[in-house]
Amino acid sequence: MASSEDTATVQPSVDQASVGRDNGLTYASYLRLSEMLDQQRCRSLPVAHDELLFIAVHQVYELWFKVLLFELADVRDRMLGGDTYRARLRLRRCHEIERVLVNQVDVVDTMTPHGFLEFRGSLGTSSGFQSAQFREIEFLSGADDHGWLARAGWLTAEDRRRLSRRLAEPDLWDAFVVLLTRAGFPVATASQRSAALCEIAAGDDRYSELWELSEALIGHDQMWSSWRQRHQLTVLRQLGVRPGTAGSAGASYLAGRAQLKFYPELWEARTCFGGSAPV
Ligand code: HEM
Repeated sequence: MASSEDTATVQPSVDQASVGRDNGLTYASYLRLSEMLDQQRCRSLPVAHDELLFIAVHQVYELWFKVLLFELADVRDRMLGGDTYRARLRLRRCHEIERVLVNQVDVVDTMTPHGFLEFRGSLGTSSGFQSAQFREIEFLSGADDHGWLARAGWLTAEDRRRLSRRLAEPDLWDAFVVLLTRAGFPVATASQRSAALCEIAAGDDRYSELWELSEALIGHDQMWSSWRQRHQLTVLRQLGVRPGTAGSAGASYLAGRAQLKFYPELWEARTCFGGSAPV
């Protein structure tokens, strides 16, 4: 059975040189603003007006992805350790971050297709499709996309090592199934798990924590799907049916991706709630 010892721990970096010192710390030095604000380098010449926005928005996404990875790894470890309360608490935070991620696409939509095309050529073959942290969140959440990793020749050795480890270790769904086992449910087959999920949903107080947790997981899945759908619409709005810079068919490729679910068994179980009669 999986335990938290099988999993990669995620630790934020520590500024070793400044631990315990308070010599003139300022807002800017604590947040390393001069380094951070120096990272937005446009590639178009003359600089296209919208390129700064495009770079900043993507960097903000990657910062939130970093926080999500930290939180989701903790959710997984808490579940493996039997701490359902903190697992739910962290998932609630993840939902709110994900809501920000969905709404942030509105800012991208303030670009006109013409404004975007002014600098699109300077993106070369780069694309959000290559985001290692985005895939890491998907792997940790429950998507086993070995095919993407096999094709991802652009990754650094460190990113590849991290992503391979994520695929090998327990994901959020594995950790939830461990909790079902501990609650006494047989979970070896899909139909056993489906029976367990229906029983949990039936309102028995003994399973209220598992029910709340399954709702929090489906909330995470739903928010991620919402982002995929929202992003697909923006791609349609900005590019029409042009292909993407990573070489995909663009909006139609993304429409297929928008159907994916991390927890199909949780979604399928909705049908058994209250019997199969139409309401
Ligand atoms: C003008 C705005 C945007 C356009 C036109 C756009 C376009 C595309 C296209 C066409 C793809 C498919 C892969 C390819 O062939 O390139 C893609 C994938 C992706 N983009 Fe964007 N994108 C935009 C904004 C963003 C933003 C703000 C993010 C935030 C990080 C992002 C993250 C991603 C990710 C993660 C994928 C992979 C999705 C998947 O494979 O499921 N994109 N994008």
